[in-house]
Amino acid sequence: MALLTIPDENRTLRNREAVTEYLGGIGIAYERWDGSRSVAAQAPADEILAAYSDEIERLKVVGSYVTADVIDVNARTPGLEAMLARFNREHWHDEDEVRFIIHGRGLFHIHPRETAVVAVEVEAGDLIRVPRGTLHWFNLCQDREIRAIRLFQDPAGWAPLYTESGADINYQPVCLGASYIPAQSAIG
Ligand SMILES: [Fe+2]
Repeated sequence: MALLTIPDENRTLRNREAVTEYLGGIGIAYERWDGSRSVAAQAPADEILAAYSDEIERLKVVGSYVTADVIDVNARTPGLEAMLARFNREHWHDEDEVRFIIHGRGLFHIHPRETAVVAVEVEAGDLIRVPRGTLHWFNLCQDREIRAIRLFQDPAGWAPLYTESGADINYQPVCLGASYIPAQSAIG
């Protein structure tokens, strides 16, 4: 279940209906998908895609998405820091950013044109669709692990376009949900 915070208003929403309604009000589609699948979170990508094929096909129709894949990002990912640095600054895309979380957690910050910045912490079972043109940035949570289904209208169009506004530096990239791990000194 996603956790929504509005840092500038010191508000946190944990209720599913409230989160869905608030996100819908700023143009972000949010859903929970039934987690009772017979597929393991670490199953091969083709098994994951097959297990969620009904939802994927439904979304393809709704959003004109043409392809889906599974992305794995974790501490063992080569070039992890460079990859994260591409997405942790305010940017937008020329197509929707669609993610269904299979495993792990992540933190989207959404910057609506008219209202306060919103932090959305997503976990397994959460689907989020960030429409093209929406200003946002993304961080991993402290455990630095996420596995997600992605859907694309055109994979070639999914590149970050930066605002260079610096808005992102005003918000802490800290997840507060179930797997929150406080920072600790490395040794001792
Ligand atoms: Fe993005």
